[in-house]
Amino acid sequence: MAETNRLVCLARRPEGRIAADDLVLTELPLAPLAEGEALVRNTWLSIDPSVRIRLAATTPKGYLPPLRPGDPLAGLALGEVVASRRPDFAVGELVSHTQGFRDYALLGADAAAIGGYGSPAVVRTGGLPAQWFLGPLGSAGLTAYAGLFGVLELRPADTVWISAAAGAVGSLAAQLAKLRGATVIGSAGGAAKTAFLRDELGITAVDYRAGSLTGSLTAAAPDGIDAYFDNVGGDHLAAALDVLNPGGRIALCGAVSAYDGAPAPAPADLFPIVAKQLRLQGFRAGSFLDLDEPMRAEIGDHLAAGRLVHRETVFEGLHRAPAALVAMLSGATVGKTLCHLP
Ligand SMILES: NC(=O)c1ccc[n+]([C@@H]2O[C@H](COP(=O)([O-])OP(=O)(O)OC[C@H]3O[C@@H](n4cnc5c(N)ncnc54)[C@H](OP(=O)(O)O)[C@@H]3O)[C@@H](O)[C@H]2O)c1
Repeated sequence: MAETNRLVCLARRPEGRIAADDLVLTELPLAPLAEGEALVRNTWLSIDPSVRIRLAATTPKGYLPPLRPGDPLAGLALGEVVASRRPDFAVGELVSHTQGFRDYALLGADAAAIGGYGSPAVVRTGGLPAQWFLGPLGSAGLTAYAGLFGVLELRPADTVWISAAAGAVGSLAAQLAKLRGATVIGSAGGAAKTAFLRDELGITAVDYRAGSLTGSLTAAAPDGIDAYFDNVGGDHLAAALDVLNPGGRIALCGAVSAYDGAPAPAPADLFPIVAKQLRLQGFRAGSFLDLDEPMRAEIGDHLAAGRLVHRETVFEGLHRAPAALVAMLSGATVGKTLCHLP
């Protein structure tokens, strides 16, 4: 059994945008396995924007507490059980859990979920690539599915706007909405990503970095927008209040523009919510676990039939996890961002 564990820890709180050296790889002795624990060698780490939230000095009430310098990062991960003293995990099984950003996870009965999602569980891949269970068949899939169908109650007649549409959640939401018959507009930053949205996902693409977002959305949807899947917050949310039709719905999934040190400008005028009788609802995927099974059935069918494009950006080796987080937050990755531990 391994005697030491390498963990990605917070070296210092980022000032402004995160830099890779705000994080540090630390080697610590591995405690012997106690009764009720399993040792898991991590093979895939999910690189999620929300990891950045806990690196700030404070986190919003109701969210996870901030990490302190020296603390290891946490995140969704997959790994293989290499030793077990708990009856539910056998050696050799693939397990999903929330002790990412390290070589080994020690899973006791108290191993935590993140926001209600990610309690340790055996994953049966059925021959599919394991990492899909962190992406389209995992948290990203459930988030997209819950936002569209649990919150927005999307209908085929809807025109829906999805922001950060070239990312993990956004690219799934955009394609699921299109496959259900809705008219889809996706926004992303830069020409390469908008080409991906247009040419590979087959949706109307808006480059939020090129001119006025409200202007581009109005041009893309002359009859207005019925539903908005918000991954970005700030100026994107303000534009949604401008362009949504009366009775429009907003699913507040995330606010990535505010995570990485830049205060996101809030919408200056909330009156359109009243005037147009808009419905805004924040949600966390962990509150929609009942949709996990239908999500896997629907997305699994689309993947098997080749109807759904799934892109990954993979960084090799634990030492690359800090660079993966920096790249994903700066918009340098496409699709699901992962770190693979060989
Ligand atoms: N509610 C939940 O349960 C839940 C669960 C998972 C994820 N989420 C949220 O879902 C959102 C997407 O997560 P993900 O894992 O799929 O990440 P992702 O979209 O794969 O990666 C983040 C993307 O955010 C975009 N971005 C960064 N800064 C931006 C800014 N200032 N303005 C506009 N876009 C910006 C970048 O794309 P561009 O290159 O296009 O700028 C980047 O690629 C996040 O807000 C995340 O917190 C919520």
